[in-house]
Amino acid sequence: MAPWWRDAVFYQVYPRSFADSDGDGVGDLPGVRSRLPYLRSLGVDAVWLSPFYLGPQADGGYDVEDYRAVDPLFGTMADARALIADAHALGLRVIVDLVPNHSSSRHPWFREALASPGSEHRARYLFRPGRDGGPPNDWQSLFGGPAWTRTTDPDGTPGDWYLHLFSPEQPDFDWTYPAVAEEFRSVLRHWLDVGVDGFRVDVAHGLVKAHGLPDHGVPTHLLDLTATPFWDQDGVHDIYRDWRRLLDTYPGDRVAVAEAWGPTLTRTARYVRPDELHQAFNFHYLTCPWDPVALRAVIDDSLDAMSAVGAPATWVLSNHDVVRHATRLAPEADPGTGLRRARAATLLMLALPGSAYLYQGEELGLPEVRDLPPHTRQDPAFARSGGRDGFRDGCRVPLPWEGAEPPYGFSPHGTPTWLPQPSHWGGYAVAAQAGDPTSTLEMYRAALALRGTLRGDLAWLPSAPHVLAFERGTARCAVNLGDRPSTIHTGGVDHVLIASGPVHHDGGHTSVPPDTAVWWRA
Ligand code: GLC
Ligand code: MG
Repeated sequence: MAPWWRDAVFYQVYPRSFADSDGDGVGDLPGVRSRLPYLRSLGVDAVWLSPFYLGPQADGGYDVEDYRAVDPLFGTMADARALIADAHALGLRVIVDLVPNHSSSRHPWFREALASPGSEHRARYLFRPGRDGGPPNDWQSLFGGPAWTRTTDPDGTPGDWYLHLFSPEQPDFDWTYPAVAEEFRSVLRHWLDVGVDGFRVDVAHGLVKAHGLPDHGVPTHLLDLTATPFWDQDGVHDIYRDWRRLLDTYPGDRVAVAEAWGPTLTRTARYVRPDELHQAFNFHYLTCPWDPVALRAVIDDSLDAMSAVGAPATWVLSNHDVVRHATRLAPEADPGTGLRRARAATLLMLALPGSAYLYQGEELGLPEVRDLPPHTRQDPAFARSGGRDGFRDGCRVPLPWEGAEPPYGFSPHGTPTWLPQPSHWGGYAVAAQAGDPTSTLEMYRAALALRGTLRGDLAWLPSAPHVLAFERGTARCAVNLGDRPSTIHTGGVDHVLIASGPVHHDGGHTSVPPDTAVWWRA
């Protein structure tokens, strides 16, 4: 039997925004635990938890001070164990985030390093002398400004610089130093022993930097898919081969998924060669425009690149770093079309061979929140870019569960949530959608329940140019990406399994409106 993860649907929980149990306005692990039955009934196979580790939360938990401890903001180690046990009892797997590219600047190793210039303690990070009074090279932080910060020696004189591809509170490790690799082997074992089913590897393409840290020549961006001296260096693969050997010593098909923004799908596929990680998010798919030619090409290229290394494709449309797809796919100022496209895009994604990742709230059709007041924004990129960037807060607004006004059941009482929720979100709440067959929530539920009927390889079917149509085994999927209805021979109403919006049947034919997807039995 194929391992569970090859066609699994994973649901990303961003703990601070999922459910708050103690009323401080910040989601926490007991909150997640209390909502596991919801995830079970949604029909996902596994949960990915974004970081809940001890740290100052300078970047929403992607700045870790202790890789083995739970931050009190999110609960305790006992809460983490109880959550994992409950999930397993419900038949849900749990993977946790691993942040190996950088630690928090409050990590004991970094504090030691700052305290002892010129010592071996600095070898775990990337400290370098400046160049001509400025930083050692021209690399830019993804959150704005130089990727280097100058230290002050304990005697008060200006000292060396250290590298941080993200914020200054996130110093990059030097992965050529053996103690770093040894420490992360131990962290992996720690969580595997606790019982997690695997890891999502943060910035998996960044751990190794080009020898000599050469200048890059151009500015950088988080979603940069071009070649740089700090992304996608060949040396990262030695690390993943090492981790794979470690994962394989544990029973139960433990899995690791790479957050790797490879410049090409062929480069991305290198992370999932048979002796490396299991999955790699397909960001080429995520960033693909709503266009039949582009989508078909990226699907074909993905399946080709992944099957060349024997790996399944790993589809994703939303996560905590990108504009929610209900907004991203919308033409300017047209949320109705955005939601219609998002629903169609989801049905398309869930029909494709391989695994898929969902991001909390997409099953509610949540849009991006575009109008958060500047003083509420927490994304470190917002402050560092003078408000020009750093809009990741808009997809991190706490979920609405029930009721007509904030906090919509997110918190037990009326505490302000850590990011304010819009006042018009009542209709998006889980309770408002549950049981309504036209709701986005029920569409997700139905699609996840039916997904198993799509089996085997994808074969394209002949179709009009603005329609994508394919079959997998005895089931078929079509998406209309054009601006007029398209008539598709489905065999009639009793063959149609699910549609992302209203469709009309006429004999054996189904009229599929623009921005709509349909699955049917051949
Ligand atoms: C990844 C995370 C993102 C974080 C960054 C630095 O891209 O998904 O949220 O800011 O790494 O850890
Ligand atoms: Mg809380």
